[in-house]
Amino acid sequence: MTALTLSTAAAPGLRADAIVVGVAAGAKGPVVAPGAEAVDKAYDGKLASVLETLGAGGGEGEVTKLPAPSGFKAPLVLAVGLGAEPENPENGAAYGTEALRRAAGVAARALAGSKKAAFALPVGDAEDAGAVAEGALLGAYSFDAYKEMTAKDAAAKKGKAPLAEVAVLGGKPRDKAYKAEIERAVAVAEELNRARDLVNTPPNDLNPEAFAAVATAAAKEHGIKVQVLDEKALTKGGYGGILGVGAGSEAPPRLVKLSYTSSKAKKHLAFVGKGITYDSGGISLKPAGHNETMKCDMAGAAAVFAAVVAAARLGLEVNVTGWLALAENMPSGSATRPGDVLRMYSGKTVEVLNTDAEGRLVLADAIAKASEENPDAIVDVATLTGAMMLALGNRTFGVMANDDAFRTAIHEAAEEVGEPSWPMPLPADLRKGMDSATADIANMGERMGGGLVAGLFLKEFVGEGITWAHLDIAGPAFHEGAPFGYTPKGGTGTAVRTLVRLAELTAAGDLG
Ligand code: BES
Ligand code: MN
Ligand code: ZN
Repeated sequence: MTALTLSTAAAPGLRADAIVVGVAAGAKGPVVAPGAEAVDKAYDGKLASVLETLGAGGGEGEVTKLPAPSGFKAPLVLAVGLGAEPENPENGAAYGTEALRRAAGVAARALAGSKKAAFALPVGDAEDAGAVAEGALLGAYSFDAYKEMTAKDAAAKKGKAPLAEVAVLGGKPRDKAYKAEIERAVAVAEELNRARDLVNTPPNDLNPEAFAAVATAAAKEHGIKVQVLDEKALTKGGYGGILGVGAGSEAPPRLVKLSYTSSKAKKHLAFVGKGITYDSGGISLKPAGHNETMKCDMAGAAAVFAAVVAAARLGLEVNVTGWLALAENMPSGSATRPGDVLRMYSGKTVEVLNTDAEGRLVLADAIAKASEENPDAIVDVATLTGAMMLALGNRTFGVMANDDAFRTAIHEAAEEVGEPSWPMPLPADLRKGMDSATADIANMGERMGGGLVAGLFLKEFVGEGITWAHLDIAGPAFHEGAPFGYTPKGGTGTAVRTLVRLAELTAAGDLG
């Protein structure tokens, strides 16, 4: 894990492998961003023109490395692009938190293999310092637990170890607000990175039981109450949805309940995560080309887990219950068949027409169970439908809800933390497509609007009068392209920061 400090040291005397400065795209070429004054001075005030000579323009994602000026302890200056220069660059906090987060992430990734880097980016206030810290910690992430190396490769790998130490310059280490923002950034980034680890862990090592064990250990460490329902308890409790999805697997399902409580809480949030540790499709088997990344189908549960632990670490004054609905969706002689009817935890019956529409089945049971505690709101997070990816692409999650104001609040909270999302409707006319001749409802409906159909299915299992929202993260949960900003290849940890923000807003009384 990368270590992080706030430092007031002056750039020339800093013992580090690199000093990171910001360069923005100005109207007439690259401009050096505030925070890098000492570095610029050491280049006789010519850093912008030096960078221009080297081909830098200040665009987002751009990295330019140059030797540090003489007299500097650090050997390297890394200029990272911040994108367009803001209108009033001299105003504090003019650059915006997401631009800082992304630039810090790009720099941290480019510095893999280095031990220590000092970030001299334009920090205008405490929130900016937190954004730089968060971006650097998220950008420094790498998943190499499964890379077995020969001795020679190990030496080569050494050159790629994640940046070990980050110093954020330009802040006020003794100031309460700065301290709080840094502490927040560290807790959120560490737990988010843990969610990424869970998503990236191959499904032969992360089955429902293993996931439950990880959650149990973390809960104990952070004073969170944990309860794990195994297959026996699930049978006794009548969790037909979770059991039906897990029926085909050698690895039985689990329902994990994580309860974080604060003595000062006035509100209670329930987060519910889809935790399909592998989605083969079941008897309605996915064709080759559609199952290679299906270890990511527990990303919702990973996000919920991370958010509850982060809330506990930050001591938020709100009660947060996390529900992880864990199962492996496999075909076998004991698997649920298309045509089977499941009796769900709520008592409703569901005709399973397609065993690949399994997420809604495990979520339905967990949402119904979560409803019994009558929380102020339920938010479920799920890699639920390919249709949502067709609608919104690979970087944006869909937000559906039974309450317009709540849906808007979630979209805005996501925006604030740098997670792209978009509000989606739940058109009532799509409900009749799920009418079943045999049961109360079928697990599939019309193909058109498939993401909304799934949302309408879940809505049926939300307790009377409870505010509920559904985040379909199928697009952004797993990143298959080249890394960008602070987003690596593989598990992204999407929705963690939105959930944490929701908990903070609820604690502050600014939500619901
Ligand atoms: N886990 C998938 C959705 C998914 C697809 C997530 C691609 C991430 C990437 C889900 O369980 C699924 O298979 N959904 C089906 C539903 C259909 C059978 C109604 C889908 O979207 O095709
Ligand atoms: Mn599926
Ligand atoms: Zn699935």
